Amino acid sequence: MIIKIFKDSKELGIALGKEFVDAVEANPSIILGLATGSSPLGTYASIIENSKERGVSFSKVKTFNLDEYLACPLEDQTYRAFMKENLFSHIDILEENTHFPNATGLSDYDKEIAEAGGVDFQLLGIGRNGHIGFNEPGTPADSLTHVVDLTESTRVANARFFRDDLSLVPTQAVTMGIGTITKSRRIALIANTLDKAEPIAKLLQGKKDLDCPVTALIDHPHFEVYLTEEVDEAVQKLLAGSLAD
Ligand code: F6R
Repeated sequence: MIIKIFKDSKELGIALGKEFVDAVEANPSIILGLATGSSPLGTYASIIENSKERGVSFSKVKTFNLDEYLACPLEDQTYRAFMKENLFSHIDILEENTHFPNATGLSDYDKEIAEAGGVDFQLLGIGRNGHIGFNEPGTPADSLTHVVDLTESTRVANARFFRDDLSLVPTQAVTMGIGTITKSRRIALIANTLDKAEPIAKLLQGKKDLDCPVTALIDHPHFEVYLTEEVDEAVQKLLAGSLAD
């Protein structure tokens, strides 16, 4: 595990976006695994800027997103729409090369990824309970792409994207499993807000724990954790406290 610490979220996004464009430049047919949410927004802005400045083309790149809602009543709130708005419509990627899991033919997503050659570089955010993708605490480490029932707290938290109307928030999603994610050759995980300090502290304690899904990545051979200084400070405090216990 490699820990990288940045002054703030902006610097983190600039650096990680550059890493992605470096990787595409080195391998124009690279397979990328992508995430939605607020954590990767700066990274996506930096990918857009870097690829334009350096003339790096994404025309041969294939992407596989981590997750997608099932039966989402608002088209503009699907994760496909999010990716279009925040990345895809600003780079020269081909729509047919962008993939999202869906309920029909679940096992096909893992097969599709494998047939494409496997994910070379996976981007991850992290939930405050340590979830990765929609893999909530308790998800088996060898799980593949599967349907999840969204918890009430997740649905309430997401209602802000659905006109504050809980009845519009999807009840299910499809997510890559933890086993799908760990197969990626390189993984970069972003923790750029203080609410992520607790699961990152658990990760740095180095013990696998089914109740904190991110800890499944502990022994991954190429796993980078991107932190802001403030998150790192909070993590160090938590770790010092747990040592004192
Ligand atoms: C997104 C995803 C989730 C998020 C996580 C953090 O595709 O799979 O695991 O990465 O919930 O969300 P943000 O970045 O909004 O704090």
